[in-house]
Amino acid sequence: MQTETEQIARGDVADKGRRVREMFDRIARRYTLVNTLISFGRDAHWRRRAVRAAAVQPGDCLLDCCCGPGELADAFAAGDPAPAQITASDFSPRMLAAAERRQAGRAKPLRLVQADAMKLSFEASSFDIVSCAFGLRNLADPKEGLAEFFRVLRPGGRVAILEFSLPAGRLMRACYLLYFRRVLPVIGGLISGDLGAYRYLPKSVESFFSPVQIADMVEAVGFRDVRQESLSAGIATITTARRVG
Ligand SMILES: C[S@@+](CC[C@H](N)C(=O)[O-])C[C@H]1O[C@@H](n2cnc3c(N)ncnc32)[C@H](O)[C@@H]1O
Repeated sequence: MQTETEQIARGDVADKGRRVREMFDRIARRYTLVNTLISFGRDAHWRRRAVRAAAVQPGDCLLDCCCGPGELADAFAAGDPAPAQITASDFSPRMLAAAERRQAGRAKPLRLVQADAMKLSFEASSFDIVSCAFGLRNLADPKEGLAEFFRVLRPGGRVAILEFSLPAGRLMRACYLLYFRRVLPVIGGLISGDLGAYRYLPKSVESFFSPVQIADMVEAVGFRDVRQESLSAGIATITTARRVG
C-alpha cells in the first residue's frame, strides 16, 4: 500500500501539480537554508556546473524554469559572460516571494514570472537558454515540460537540466540511500517544520527517471546533441541539449 507521499512522488494522483505547489509554498521560507544543510553546500557547486554546461554566449536571453528563490538564476547572473536578460519563473507564489526578497541584493534584478512549467506563458522561440534545476521531477508530466522548454527556445537554443540521480556504485549508493531515506527527512523536517516535504524528496528522486531515460525523453521531444555530466559520484546529473530545428 503506497503512502500519500509516495503517490504524489510517483504522480499517481490526479492533482499532483496543486499538491506540489502547496508543498513548495509551505517550505519556501527555509528552503535555501535546508538545501545548503542537507547537501553540505554542494547544491551551489552543482548549480555553478550547470551554468558552465549551458555555455552562455554574450547577449543570450535566459529562462530559468522552476526557479524557487532564484539561486540558479543568480548563478547565471554571476557567470562570465552573464546572460543579457534573465527571466525566472515558478508556479509557487511563496517561492516567487522568496525570490523577490532577494532582488535588493542583485546587481540586475531578475524578471520574475508566475508560470506553470507545463504551460509557459511565453511566446515560441523567445529564449536562447532554458534552465531547470531540481524542477523536472516535480512536474506532473515531465515530458510536457520538456516540450514547453523546446517551444520557447529559439532554434539553436540550449536547454540545461540539473536533477538529482542515484549513485551507480553499489557501496556509495547504499550509503547515500541510508542518508537520503533516514537522515535527510529528519533534518529537513525539523528545520522546515514539514516532514512530509522532506519525505517526498527521496521518494520523488527514487521513483523518477534515470539519466538515460531523461536523455531519451529530451530527444523524444525534439532536442539534439544531448550530453550528460554526472556530479558528486552520481548524486546529481546535468543534461544539456540543443534545439536544432
Ligand atoms: C526543488 S525546487 C527547485 C528550486 C530551484 N530551481 C533550485 O535550484 O533550488 C522545485 C521548484 O519547482 C517548482 N515547480 C514544481 N512544479 C512546477 C510547475 N509545474 N511549474 C512551475 N514551477 C514548478 C516549485 O514550486 C519549486 O519552487
